[in-house]
Amino acid sequence: MSDEKRFYLTTPIYYVNDVPHIGHAYTTLACDVMARYKRARGYQVYFLTGTDEHGQKVEKAAHAKGETPLELADRVVKRFQSLWEKLNISNTDFIRTSQERHKLAVQEIFRIIEARGDIYLGEYEDWYCTPCETFWTETNLLDGNCPDCGRPTDKLKEESYFFRMSKYQEQLLAHIEANPDFIQPKSRRNEILSFVREGLRDLSISRTTFSWGIPVPGNDKHVIYVWFDALTNYISALGFPHDNDGNFARFWPCDVHVIGKDILRFHTVYWPTFLMAAGIPLPDKVFAHGWWTVEGQKMSKSLANVVEPNMLIDKYGVDAIRYFLLREVPFGLDGDFSHSALVHRINSDLANDLGNLVSRSTAMLSKYFQGELTTACKKETIDQDLQDKFMQQVGVIDEQMDALAFNKALQSIWELVSAANKYIDDSAPWALAKDEDQGERLGTVMYNLLEAVRLIGLLITPFMPETGASISRILGLDPDSQQLVEHDRWGLLQPGTTIEKAAPLFPRIEPE
Ligand code: MSP
Repeated sequence: MSDEKRFYLTTPIYYVNDVPHIGHAYTTLACDVMARYKRARGYQVYFLTGTDEHGQKVEKAAHAKGETPLELADRVVKRFQSLWEKLNISNTDFIRTSQERHKLAVQEIFRIIEARGDIYLGEYEDWYCTPCETFWTETNLLDGNCPDCGRPTDKLKEESYFFRMSKYQEQLLAHIEANPDFIQPKSRRNEILSFVREGLRDLSISRTTFSWGIPVPGNDKHVIYVWFDALTNYISALGFPHDNDGNFARFWPCDVHVIGKDILRFHTVYWPTFLMAAGIPLPDKVFAHGWWTVEGQKMSKSLANVVEPNMLIDKYGVDAIRYFLLREVPFGLDGDFSHSALVHRINSDLANDLGNLVSRSTAMLSKYFQGELTTACKKETIDQDLQDKFMQQVGVIDEQMDALAFNKALQSIWELVSAANKYIDDSAPWALAKDEDQGERLGTVMYNLLEAVRLIGLLITPFMPETGASISRILGLDPDSQQLVEHDRWGLLQPGTTIEKAAPLFPRIEPE
């Protein structure tokens, strides 16, 4: 099927030396919303997430706990997987870098690049930050410490395989310049452009000082550098190099790698040059989102302010958390997490605006028509205006989703919620109900209102799958059969349907 619409998107793979927190949940959630949206638009979606299990950092963490690295990974990977289940993450695949399929791919891409002459054996001497798994030159260091995390670095000298990254500087620059959307947001693109213009050095891509990693093919004194290993997950999961299931052919190049801003260089300099050297096409886009602080402070174990997503979900509900994280902060910028902001959003946007719309609409239909929808046979201008607004906004939201502008898409949906609430006020069903001659008009208003509710339910489903499904059920529809691609038109509710008065979707939360 060559005209099949396909979409491939990825999260970073998470280190297993840390348990999942709100920052990890954010990246995965954003990808989930996108994956659900694209599926609802009729795309075949491959949505990949997973864990990054090799490297010195994981090895050290395991030894400190008296475990083997694999025991540590097996334990922590469950924490990630159970959180993703709880957050309703709809990933297609979960890659672990300790899997055989991954090892095979990493060694193969290493071999290809080596055979093309872009990997050579040399000697390495530089400053290494173990927590960041990054080498720094003397001039990069800040007071002898890692410029990223501020922790001490060690001087390392070792035999190492090098990747001829310097050779790809011009080709990479040309690619970034010719593809304005390759790195997003724009500020990040500029940052990388100036970094590349300063010059690329060859990159050390193997280590001999520890063993928890994938051996260099033909020289198992060396393990492959953890970022060379980790980045390859994006193709190993698809079945590269053998591609037995055809997923690599179907889904590569990737539509978007979604990452945090801290790992931008790895994804927009290292990864594309590895791919160039291996003769594999580059991903279409890398999108870097911002970082969350908590109540104004950096999240850190020492401050004991790490926000634990399981606890939040138990307390506020999964859809409220999903909504908040994507609504509160423009995707791409930094944001602050606070309980008061969360409670405010839940009460005003979810309980008030959306919740009231659904309960008022169904309550009125129940009161005036014993819950039975009639045909919309008595149309007025405000009805057409409402319908036009909805149809126009569906297109706007589609563009916003394509741009990963999740908060704007939610704002657009909430404009529709407001428009529907205003439609109630303007058409004043309670006044129509007092006049016997206005029965048809009242039925028309009720129909339009519930049709508005149906479309809002459909549009929020990628963000809030449980709430979207509840709205479908309230309207007597099977949630699984409701997809934007077929149901984003006005007037699909069937007259004669019986709709019961809905219980509140979101209880109000009393601020603590
Ligand atoms: N293992 C590497 C990624 C390899 S991808 C080939 C890694 N792992 S990580 O677990 O440290 O981070 C994963 C993601 O979580 C990153 O995108 C990072 O930006 C994100 N976040 C970690 N803390 C965060 C916040 N406080 N706020 C938002 N996102 C944050 O890096």
